[in-house]
Amino acid sequence: MTVEQTLSIIKPDAVAKNLIGKIYERFENNDLKIIAAKMKKLTRFEAEEFYAVHKYQPFFADLISFMSSGPVMIQVLEGENAISKNREIMGSTNPKEAALGTIRADFAESIDANAVHGFDTLANAVNEIMYFFSKEEIYSYQK
Ligand code: CMP
Repeated sequence: MTVEQTLSIIKPDAVAKNLIGKIYERFENNDLKIIAAKMKKLTRFEAEEFYAVHKYQPFFADLISFMSSGPVMIQVLEGENAISKNREIMGSTNPKEAALGTIRADFAESIDANAVHGFDTLANAVNEIMYFFSKEEIYSYQK
């Protein structure tokens, strides 16, 4: 078991539906600690930079419009195998395919408005944490 950190974003649909607390509860109930957090409305430029890997996908324009349409809640999660655990808790990208009891199955409406974002590899997680948080804004505390 390895203690990892990963970035999580609660997307505009879930923030607007007042679901921040319910989603945080899922993280905490699964031993993922919230060690940094901020609310932010992404500019189109930030969304484009952040999702640069999807630049040539047909869904890119819709993704950028949606992610900059309202405030998001951004957090760093820490815990054993945090990257894969967070992906498990989130469920499949398309909520119609997400396993019962996952965040996307329970709270998401569509593949675009799919409630949360998380990272799949350690390198991506580290890069994306650094995109939003300085070292001073991350608190790796003990229980
Ligand atoms: P996310 O995990 O934030 O990463 C990229 C996002 O693009 C994804 O969640 C979806 O919300 C969105 N998206 C829209 N269409 C697709 C698709 N066909 N495949 C993957 N992601 C998609």
